[in-house]
Amino acid sequence: MSLVCPVILGSVRSDRQGLRAARFLVGALEARGHEAPLVDPAALKLPLLDRMYTEYPRGEAPEALETLAALYGRADAFVVVSAEYNHSIPPALSNTLDHFLEEYFWRPSAICCYSAGQYGGVRAAMQLRAMMAELGAPSIPSLLPIPRIGKALSEGGEPTEDWLPKATNRFLDELTWYAEALRAQRRTGTPY
Ligand SMILES: Cc1cc2nc3c(=O)[nH]c(=O)nc-3n(C[C@H](O)[C@H](O)[C@H](O)COP(=O)(O)O)c2cc1C
Repeated sequence: MSLVCPVILGSVRSDRQGLRAARFLVGALEARGHEAPLVDPAALKLPLLDRMYTEYPRGEAPEALETLAALYGRADAFVVVSAEYNHSIPPALSNTLDHFLEEYFWRPSAICCYSAGQYGGVRAAMQLRAMMAELGAPSIPSLLPIPRIGKALSEGGEPTEDWLPKATNRFLDELTWYAEALRAQRRTGTPY
């Protein structure tokens, strides 16, 4: 069954490597027949948080927030692509996520973390896991850590190492299972 699964990228640096992972995951999801729009805070020129989306009168939020709210309303799951800055979540990612709350509820998330070095950003991912739970989109058990991202993926998001497509398949199988289960349950109603 086809899913709507935004891929949220959390880096806005001009030399960012995260776009490689985001492009790779958009491609992997689309190859499975899912709709996987890239949420790129740099392209959207997402402002630093002033008012959350919900604090604007209906239809009067900045265009980027209206676009994301409409997308998130249709979403079945979220893939979050996170670097690790100082063992923590990149500020651009928390800013991107913080604009919304209820829009994430009752959907699973999946965390892809990466780094230039060998640890693959897992320390940031542990913090992101707690944040995603608080946002109402708890993360699936598996992570997809990508160490040495500049070597593992081309600029266009093509994997150069065999382990990555295999690990991604398993990661997306797991996300699909949770997304389908929660979608079926959402259709019967939500507690609030
Ligand atoms: C401010 C900053 C802090 C960083 N801190 C870490 C870190 O704690 N652990 C790590 O493995 N890499 C760290 N790095 C290196 C990143 O893994 C690497 O630059 C990666 O490409 C960042 O993602 P981005 O290019 O998408 O912004 C840091 C990079 C920056 C810019």
